[in-house]
Amino acid sequence: MSLSSTPSAAFDLPPETPTALPGFRLWKGAFDRAAQVALLAQVTAAEATAPFYRPETPGGRPFSVRMTNLGPMGWVSDRAGYRYQPTHPVTGAPWPPMPTILLDLWRATAAWPAPPDACLVNLYDARARMGLHQDRDEADLAAPVLSISLGDAAVFRIGPAQVGPTATVRLESGDVCALTGPARLARHGIDRVLAGSSTLLPDGGRLNLTLRRSGRT
Ligand code: SIN
Ligand code: FE2
Repeated sequence: MSLSSTPSAAFDLPPETPTALPGFRLWKGAFDRAAQVALLAQVTAAEATAPFYRPETPGGRPFSVRMTNLGPMGWVSDRAGYRYQPTHPVTGAPWPPMPTILLDLWRATAAWPAPPDACLVNLYDARARMGLHQDRDEADLAAPVLSISLGDAAVFRIGPAQVGPTATVRLESGDVCALTGPARLARHGIDRVLAGSSTLLPDGGRLNLTLRRSGRT
């Protein structure tokens, strides 16, 4: 262990909830209310240096979701394309540090030797959604993608990478899910947010934090 490493505790996971798609892993209620409040406070504090902004697609369409990032790298989208970069596209500042609890969660869930280097934070209002897509901007597509939901519940849609039916799963505040192994390139998106289903965010809405290894660090 190096002297500069942050001491951190093991993350206490609830039993895993079975899913119909091999490699799509789900832990309902992994963050209890106190842990949700603590994580939300860290995101809120990070907003001071890394404000949410509205990205646009390479085709020039604005996302309905607003975004920011935590950690050495952040996922961004604009007319130049999708990519990871170390700085906020609006302020030019480095992204705020990755919260230790997210590194603990990754260690507890991801059978992967290296830590995540990027945490995309998506902010959904009642009208926001995310079309079906694959996460494939990472250098090593074998490393898992780990997602944490906070605030209002959402209807998450997921299906196999190539062809085959999609199904929906309700993701609620404190739930953690992962795209691993055969589901790493699963198509997924958010059909809708269930406004008013949680009291966690003072102004309502949903936050989703996605941990990944960009492979750019
Ligand atoms: C994403 O795929 O980037 C977000 C998924 C979610 O909001 O749960
Ligand atoms: Fe995604």
